[in-house]
Amino acid sequence: MSHADEILSVRNIFKVFGPNPDMAMDMLRGGADKDEIFRKTGHVVGVFDANFSVKRGEIFVIMGLSGSGKSTMVRLFNRLIEPTSGSIHLKGREITGLSDKELLDVRRKEMGMVFQSFALMPHMSVLENTAFGLEIAGISEAERHSRAREALAQVGLAGHEHSYPHQLSGGMQQRVGLARALANDPTILLMDEAFSALDPLIRSEMQEELIRLQTEQQRTIIFISHDIEEAMRIGHRIAIMQGGRVVQIGTPQELINRPANDYVRTFFKAFDSSRVLKAGDVAMLDPDSVSKMNGKAPELNKDIPYNYLIDEHGLLLDVIKTRDFVADSSDSLGKHYHTREKQPVYIDTPLHEMLGIAAALPYPVPVLDRTGALKGTISQSLLLQTLSRV
Ligand SMILES: Nc1ncnc2c1ncn2[C@@H]1O[C@H](COP(=O)(O)OP(=O)(O)OP(=O)(O)O)[C@@H](O)[C@H]1O
Ligand SMILES: [Mg+2]
Repeated sequence: MSHADEILSVRNIFKVFGPNPDMAMDMLRGGADKDEIFRKTGHVVGVFDANFSVKRGEIFVIMGLSGSGKSTMVRLFNRLIEPTSGSIHLKGREITGLSDKELLDVRRKEMGMVFQSFALMPHMSVLENTAFGLEIAGISEAERHSRAREALAQVGLAGHEHSYPHQLSGGMQQRVGLARALANDPTILLMDEAFSALDPLIRSEMQEELIRLQTEQQRTIIFISHDIEEAMRIGHRIAIMQGGRVVQIGTPQELINRPANDYVRTFFKAFDSSRVLKAGDVAMLDPDSVSKMNGKAPELNKDIPYNYLIDEHGLLLDVIKTRDFVADSSDSLGKHYHTREKQPVYIDTPLHEMLGIAAALPYPVPVLDRTGALKGTISQSLLLQTLSRV
């Protein structure tokens, strides 16, 4: 990652709750863990030595069980909680060293926040609620209202400007919360369990909305969730927290393919891995099954039932049923090739989309890159193995 891509960087951040955090820090340095420190001193380790960077324009999800430190982490970003040690930089500027006044300014201009239960002012209209943060920032009324209208349109609430919160459904109220954060055009959007209180249909609608907003606006979003399905759906990268530590950071595929420990693995057991894995994550290339076309009759490997015929650039020409192929009749090349419907599977084809293809083909499914070059194959047994492993 180049430095310019980093929008938020977290270095050696610790947060210990209690009257004497220095003592707890000494114990941590001496190798004590969260449980031992709590048992012996009553101090709670909220975040333990966090180190990572969030890139411009990504949705970075922080996931973990209740009490693992997610909310503490996000509150450290805007310094609603002061770190016990370590530093946090936003766009290269150290926010852990800011004065109160500078901090207010950064929060106002750079950060938008959406929480689970978003407190709308009951006596204010939707428009006024959306413009609320801007008023504090000292922006003129005309400008506030025009920005608020625009933000409401972005979250699908155009036409509801003059409604009052009690006239809105829970999902709509949450959209107002999102619009309020967007009206400020923040550098990063911090969302702590922002959709967790919504019922499933509305929730998935909001997830789609967020993905669309991010795609259109390239916003940097830090999204806290304890829900693996939600994390996989919206996260470009996911950080997994366990007992105050960030135990792993990666793309959904990386976490599924190489979980760092049992805790991470358990999260994904609940999840239908076929929706996230791509054909390219599973395909394997057996060189013995590949024959190169060189103008003459190809030399096939007679020990395997099917051979994959490629040209000099690696492009897949055909799949040949070995038994039907007559090697010495080079003039009739092509007649013996296994004829079939062409249903190319590419390395970025989601696994669940190729389940039907794999079931229908008699040979391992060839997996191509976008130029048509053969990258590997997926047999039914490899597929089953992969899906049962997770
Ligand atoms: N102000 C506080 N004082 C003392 N302990 C705290 C405080 N805030 C959080 N903690 C403790 O820090 C740990 C992390 O809490 P945090 O709220 O960050 O968890 P979380 O991952 O957000 O959980 P949830 O999914 O339930 O929201 C917990 O053990 C919690 O009890
Ligand atoms: Mg929380």
